[in-house]
Amino acid sequence: MIRRAVLASIAALAIASLTLEAGSAPQRARLGMVITQSDIASDIGFTVIQAGGNAIDAAVASAFALAVTHPTAGNVGGGGFIVYRPASGEPVSYDFRETAPTRSSPEMWLTNGKYDAEKHHNSHLAVGVPGTVAGLHLAWKEQGSKPWKDLVQPAIVLARDGFELSHGLARSLAGVLPQMKKYPASVAQFSKNGVPYEAGEIFKQPDLARTLQRIADQGPAGFYEGEVAAAIEKEMKANGGLITMADLKAYQAKKRGVVKGTYRGYDVIGMPPPSSGGMAVMQILNVLEGFDLKANGYGSAKNIHLAAEAMRRAFADRARYIADPDFEKDIPLAMLISKDYAEKQRKSINQDKASKSSTSTFEFTSESPETTHLSIVDAKRNAVSLTYTLEAGYGSKIVVPGAGFLLNNEMGDFNAAPGLTDERGLIGTTPNLARPGKRMLSSMSPTIISKDGQLFMVTGTPGGRTIINTVLTTILNVIDYGMNAQEAVDAGRMHHQWLPDRISVERFGFSADTLKMLRAMGHEVTEAGGQGAAQVIVFNQKDNMLEGGVDRRPPDGGAAGK
Ligand code: DON
Repeated sequence: MIRRAVLASIAALAIASLTLEAGSAPQRARLGMVITQSDIASDIGFTVIQAGGNAIDAAVASAFALAVTHPTAGNVGGGGFIVYRPASGEPVSYDFRETAPTRSSPEMWLTNGKYDAEKHHNSHLAVGVPGTVAGLHLAWKEQGSKPWKDLVQPAIVLARDGFELSHGLARSLAGVLPQMKKYPASVAQFSKNGVPYEAGEIFKQPDLARTLQRIADQGPAGFYEGEVAAAIEKEMKANGGLITMADLKAYQAKKRGVVKGTYRGYDVIGMPPPSSGGMAVMQILNVLEGFDLKANGYGSAKNIHLAAEAMRRAFADRARYIADPDFEKDIPLAMLISKDYAEKQRKSINQDKASKSSTSTFEFTSESPETTHLSIVDAKRNAVSLTYTLEAGYGSKIVVPGAGFLLNNEMGDFNAAPGLTDERGLIGTTPNLARPGKRMLSSMSPTIISKDGQLFMVTGTPGGRTIINTVLTTILNVIDYGMNAQEAVDAGRMHHQWLPDRISVERFGFSADTLKMLRAMGHEVTEAGGQGAAQVIVFNQKDNMLEGGVDRRPPDGGAAGK
């Protein structure tokens, strides 16, 4: 493949990649497997495993590589979550969600008392204090085995020497260029003086290479202190942003527990708040456990209806209860994921008729579908499920001048303003209002499943609020319908998020008859484009084989393994 020539300087990559096969056969590997949305980044992670590194080492190397090769969502200027299941011992999670700067307030996106969506989602006031570098470093410090510098080095080489642009990335960079026009450093980084790159050209990011070198040499201090921190503060000060060097220095990634539950005899772990992902996936699984999905059949109107009803309820709870647990001490998480609660919710579902979402109580903020997910299993069967993001594609579109990386626009995941309601249904419920140092609500759902104490499945995806339902679907596809990892990723996806009250289905994902039956049950059904980019690894214990499903909806994803 072309990219191999470009990467020849990074030793051992040539043997790592798995070739995507036609049809729905999963990728197979025994030693280990890394799947990401960039085949280059997957190769880099697997190279670490080949050299004796573990899943966290590989995740760190791949995540830094994605910051170079997948700038839509790969990042050092954003944040995310890792769910880690060691082959033995307790699973943990790492929370490196962005935080609100010290001068933030719930009213910060109001102009003369009026909510300003542009300010909230598309300005220097949309930028949260980045968490990625601190989070990767914390996970590595606690679980890694290879030198930190060695894990950042491949990304430095990729940024410094460049890599050949794929059609997908060239198209994406050209597409975002108009939105970057007001930020000269962004135009300089992602185009040739305003002229888009073309596929096949070598894309170099020298400023980013220097920032990565500082991170390699100094760890988090290379990002949160010194020149990089000063460059962020300068950019903020000059443009009405709030992040200061003190905010950066104060940023802390956090080790947390995991959300734990069971589904048809499998053990499921997911991300706790500030992500709603673990809670929502678990709650929907608990509700669906009481129905015989297998007997109803894959893709049946009945199962889509039941899933939509379970989703509707979980998303209402998400909006009502979930926020940063360090600020909201009373999140009733145990209740929300209990089997008793699921039983009550199941009883409220009419199996033949859609219920109605009430718009009168709660609402939540909108999230865009540009995030990225990594699924990784190493030789010992330690497993990492990592989802991280800049929020929108290319985040705020703001490159820090001289530092070569994009800043997130994650503050848009906070509710807009207290008590504020508009025709889009934005309501400022208290738990997810912006406060200094607070983490914003997320839907990211890195998930790992085991059976009888052995690893079974690693799954996750980007996609804003659809993340929860895409992850859910991959799980149902494997456990209930017996699909292999690739089939589970390829199969059509659906989504219901309580409000707006409708099911969206992937175009060509389900039959016209099925959609007709859903409409007859009272559902509004809309068709949408591709939902998410799930990366799934299933561990076939019997054959000691890792089976990977790579999402082919977006370009450039790939599995690496052997
Ligand atoms: O944290 C969240 O839920 C969103 N900011 C994620 C955004 C996202 O997934 C974009 N992805 N494709």
